[in-house]
Amino acid sequence: TYVIAQPCIDVMDRACVEECPVDCIYEGARSLYIHPDECVDCGACEPVCPVEAIYYEDDLPEQFGPYLRDNEEFFTQVLPGREEPLDSPGGAAKLGAIGADTPLVAGHPAG
Ligand code: F3S
Ligand code: F3S
Repeated sequence: TYVIAQPCIDVMDRACVEECPVDCIYEGARSLYIHPDECVDCGACEPVCPVEAIYYEDDLPEQFGPYLRDNEEFFTQVLPGREEPLDSPGGAAKLGAIGADTPLVAGHPAG
């Protein structure tokens, strides 16, 4: 899978969303997240991100390593304000912005 890492936080350019052929890039409150099971590894999102937030999982710089599991946990953990995990919605557009983040992203210092 591809992974969205720390540089997306509070930037949320969304150019990646336009490129994804399977609509598997979901919007939280401060970052976007790629669904690891829905992503087909096409790689179209990676070059369009202006802040280089997107990496193939095997190419993640070491300091962004935790974001592999974090993107997954956006879907498998119960997010604040929700009663169950997002699981596999099968498309981001119909959900819109979720309005919540994983603890890793929520706890990242602003600015
Ligand atoms: Fe974020 Fe880059 Fe997409 S800033 S929303 S990963 S284009
Ligand atoms: Fe979509 Fe990027 Fe995966 S464009 S299919 S999230 S590699």
